[in-house]
Amino acid sequence: MDKFVIRGGNPLVGTIRVGGAKNAALPAMAASILTEEPVILENIPDVRDIQTERSLLVSMGAEVELGYGRASHRTTLCCRNLVNPEAAYELVKTMRASTLVLGPLVARMGRARVSLPGGCAIGARPIDLHIKGLEKLGAQITQEHGYIEASADRLRGGHITFDKITVTGTEDLMMAATLAEGETLMENCAREPEVADLAALLNKMGARIEGAGTSTIRIHGVEKLHGARHRIIPDRIEAGTFVIAGALTGGDLIGANCDPLHLGALLEKLQECGVRIRTNGESVRVIADSQLRAADVSTEEYPGFPTDMQAQYMTLATQAEGTSVVTENIFENRFMHAQELVRMGANIKVEGSRAVVRGKTPLSSAAVQCSDLRASASLVIAALVADGETILDRVYHIDRGYERIEEKLRSVGAQIRRIGEMLPRRAAAPLATA
Ligand code: UD1
Repeated sequence: MDKFVIRGGNPLVGTIRVGGAKNAALPAMAASILTEEPVILENIPDVRDIQTERSLLVSMGAEVELGYGRASHRTTLCCRNLVNPEAAYELVKTMRASTLVLGPLVARMGRARVSLPGGCAIGARPIDLHIKGLEKLGAQITQEHGYIEASADRLRGGHITFDKITVTGTEDLMMAATLAEGETLMENCAREPEVADLAALLNKMGARIEGAGTSTIRIHGVEKLHGARHRIIPDRIEAGTFVIAGALTGGDLIGANCDPLHLGALLEKLQECGVRIRTNGESVRVIADSQLRAADVSTEEYPGFPTDMQAQYMTLATQAEGTSVVTENIFENRFMHAQELVRMGANIKVEGSRAVVRGKTPLSSAAVQCSDLRASASLVIAALVADGETILDRVYHIDRGYERIEEKLRSVGAQIRRIGEMLPRRAAAPLATA
C-alpha cells in the first residue's frame, strides 16, 4: 500500500491542468453497452475507478482499447458481443458506480444481474430508486443472494418521479429509457453537469433526450443506438480541490482546462472567505493574499455546494478566522476526515449532520489515514499547511479519483512524494559452509 509523505509550508504557485471528470466518464463508459458499435471517449482520467469500470465491461465481453502516448486519455469501447450481463460483488463493492450498468444492460440485453452495493464508508447508499424506476419502465426485478436480477423483453416508456434526487439514478434510468418503446418523462432529476454530459453523448449516439441538466428530462425511445465520439467534461471536483489547496496555502494558483461555470457555488463561498478569484472561459485563478475568514456551508444537490467538496472545505475552515458550521445534507456519515483533522490540531465538533469548525488553529504533522476518496483529498491539503512531515496512509483511496495528484501538486511547489510499502526483509541466507 502506497503512502504519501508531505512536508507543509509552501504556497502553491503556478498552473495545474485539470483532467476529465471521473463521474462523467463512468456513466459514459456504461453507455457503450447500449450499442454494438464502438464508442470513442476522450479526456478519460487515468484513475482507479475507471480501471475498475474497464474490468467490469471486459468481464461482460466488451472490447476495450486504450490510447497510447498523446492519446493516452482516449478509450474505445465496443460492446458488440456481450456475453455475461453481470456486475459481480467483487467489483461493485469497490465502486458503487458499477450499478450504472444495470439500466443499459436491461435495455440492450433484456436482462441484468447486478450485485447490491451494500454499505460503504460514507453511508448506506441504497439503489432503491434505480430499481423503482426500472420497474416503472416495465422491468421485472427480483432480489436473491445479494443480487438484483432485472429482465424485460423491451422496456417501455413511463413516468418516473424521483422521491429523492439521485445522480447515478438519473443517469441509469436515462440510459435505460433511450431504448424503451415510447416516451419517458423523468421528474425531480439530478441537474449535475455530468448528467448533461451523458445526455450529450447519448444524443450523439442517436438518442432523443431533452432537458438533461434541468430537473425534468424527456426521452423519446429509439430502436437502436450507434457509435459516437465524445470528449468528457473537465472534473469540477478535481478543479475545486486544487482551488482550495491554492487558497489554503496562501498561493496564486491557476486551475487550467476546467469549466468555471461548474464551480459556481464553491467559488462564491471562497470569495466570502476572502479569497480573490479570477475566471475566464476555461480556467480559474485563485489568489489568497489575505487572512481567510470563516463562512458556513451546507451541501446540496447541484447547483448547490457539492458534497464532494465538503471535506476539502472543512480543511480550509480550520485555517479561517472565526467559526464555520459545515452541514452535510446528502450523505449521513461523511465526516470521517474530521477526526483525522482533529489529530492534526484542528478544533472541530461534530453534532449529527453538522460540524462546527473553530479557526484558526495551527495544524501539525501526524500519521493520518485516508478513509474515502474526498476525505483523503482533505488530508492531503491539510498536510500542505501543517508544520512538519505528514505521513498519509492508504492513498489507494485517493488514486480512485485523482490522477497522480502528487505530481500535479509538486509541479506547483508542494513537497509531496509517494512511497511504496517496504517489503519485509528476507531472512539472511545461511552462510555456505565448506
Ligand atoms: C454521485 C457521485 C458522488 C457524489 C454523489 C452526490 C458518481 C459516480 N458519484 O453518487 O461522487 O458524492 O453523486 O453528489 O457520479 N439514494 C437513495 N436511493 C437511491 C439512490 C440514492 O436513497 O436509489 C440517496 C443516497 O443514499 C444519498 C442521496 O440519495 O443520500 C444522493 O445519492 P446519489 O446522488 O445517488 O449519489 P451517487 O449517484 O451514488
